[in-house]
Amino acid sequence: MVDASVRVKNIGLRGVTVADTKVSYIDGENGILIYRGFRIEDLAKWSTFPETAYLLLMGSLPTHGQLQSFEEELIAAREIPSFVLDAFRALPKDADPMDVLQAAVPLLALADPDLRDDSRAANVRKAIRLIARVPAVVAAWHRIRRGNALVPPDNSLSHAGNFLWQLLGEKPDPETARDFDVCLILHGDHTFNASTFACREVVSTQAHMYAGVAAGVGALAGALHGGANARVMEMLFQVEKEVKSEEEVGDWVRSRIEAGKKIMGMGHAVYKTVDPRSVILKEMSLRLGRKTGRENWYHLLTRIESESLSEFEKRGKTNIKSNVDFYSGSVYAMMGIPVDIMTPVFAISRVSGWCAHIIEEKFADAQGKPALYRPQAEYVGDYCGAMGCEYQSLEAR
Ligand SMILES: CC(C)(COP(=O)(O)OP(=O)(O)OC[C@H]1O[C@@H](n2cnc3c(N)ncnc32)[C@H](O)[C@@H]1OP(=O)(O)O)[C@@H](O)C(=O)NCCC(=O)NCCS
Repeated sequence: MVDASVRVKNIGLRGVTVADTKVSYIDGENGILIYRGFRIEDLAKWSTFPETAYLLLMGSLPTHGQLQSFEEELIAAREIPSFVLDAFRALPKDADPMDVLQAAVPLLALADPDLRDDSRAANVRKAIRLIARVPAVVAAWHRIRRGNALVPPDNSLSHAGNFLWQLLGEKPDPETARDFDVCLILHGDHTFNASTFACREVVSTQAHMYAGVAAGVGALAGALHGGANARVMEMLFQVEKEVKSEEEVGDWVRSRIEAGKKIMGMGHAVYKTVDPRSVILKEMSLRLGRKTGRENWYHLLTRIESESLSEFEKRGKTNIKSNVDFYSGSVYAMMGIPVDIMTPVFAISRVSGWCAHIIEEKFADAQGKPALYRPQAEYVGDYCGAMGCEYQSLEAR
């Protein structure tokens, strides 16, 4: 009889349920995303990123007083230790911002007074420091690599608005700050995606939260995960350069698919219909396009999207639709965010979900007791038979 595992191996754990979670839920068939029971559309409409981060971490919406204290704690935790900034000044200026962010997370750990305290309260404090400092790190590295002075935080701005201010050195108008706040809400969590699973797997060994988050940053950097938003922009710039009129977009898309290349920002491992976050970002891309004179990007993207859908359909792949990354890159670019800061922006938001999952994993909030992840692999090596190699000394080889 065939072992049940044979049917699921080598396909990246697709369809395998590895744990219970109360943090978020995706209905991939119907395009529904929920954080702690709340629909993403409602959160995007009514909530703010700090409130959503509180919801993810604590499991319920805060009262007015709870939200106020949470926001005050975020503001108080913003400052980055000076040795982290000194380390940044010594780095090659062309270092990838995701590599710098991944390197910065363990450095931040060294400055955390709660590092060795694994109680729930200490983990919540660590989470607040991480949510506050990851944006500060991304902004600081961007300023340092460009040889620009660091921008001190402005506590009168929202969490989202302050990041744009510290990154770009210009105060965003309230609508832009709110649009960016919504982007942060949309990227906060997404169940057992690759980076979240990496975080949970690492802390299942009882490693600390920073070790888990560093793994999450590493996983997010990949082109198939958080790196896709920047790849969509590269694709858009390529289309802008190579295509003379919108009518030629179809040929461009077809030749790319025929060459076995992916249309970035399309397709999803879980959604079999349009990603609900993409719907919100699409509307935002049009609105910002009109405001910034970049409506042409929106039109090109919608054309790439429709041409791709019809190409996929011809090939019987009717469930490849736009995902969160398809329109987010254009939205960020219209806000002035450089292309290689787009994936770090994903991390600024997702760190809230990572920390919520890390706490859930550490305290077995959704299961009986904590369990170390330890899957199996089938040994298919066949060198001298499966295990018959006779060791020969170096001289004899
Ligand atoms: C996200 C992604 C990895 C999920 O896909 P998946 O469920 O693992 O499925 P696969 O990558 O195995 O794709 C299944 C088939 O659809 C095709 N496909 C999937 N997404 C595609 C895309 N964006 N462009 C072209 N073809 C695509 C694959 O080439 C594959 O074809 P095949 O069966 O002929 O080999 C995939 O859709 C992708 O690479 N998208 C582009 C990157 C991206 O936007 N990532 C961000 C995700 S939020």
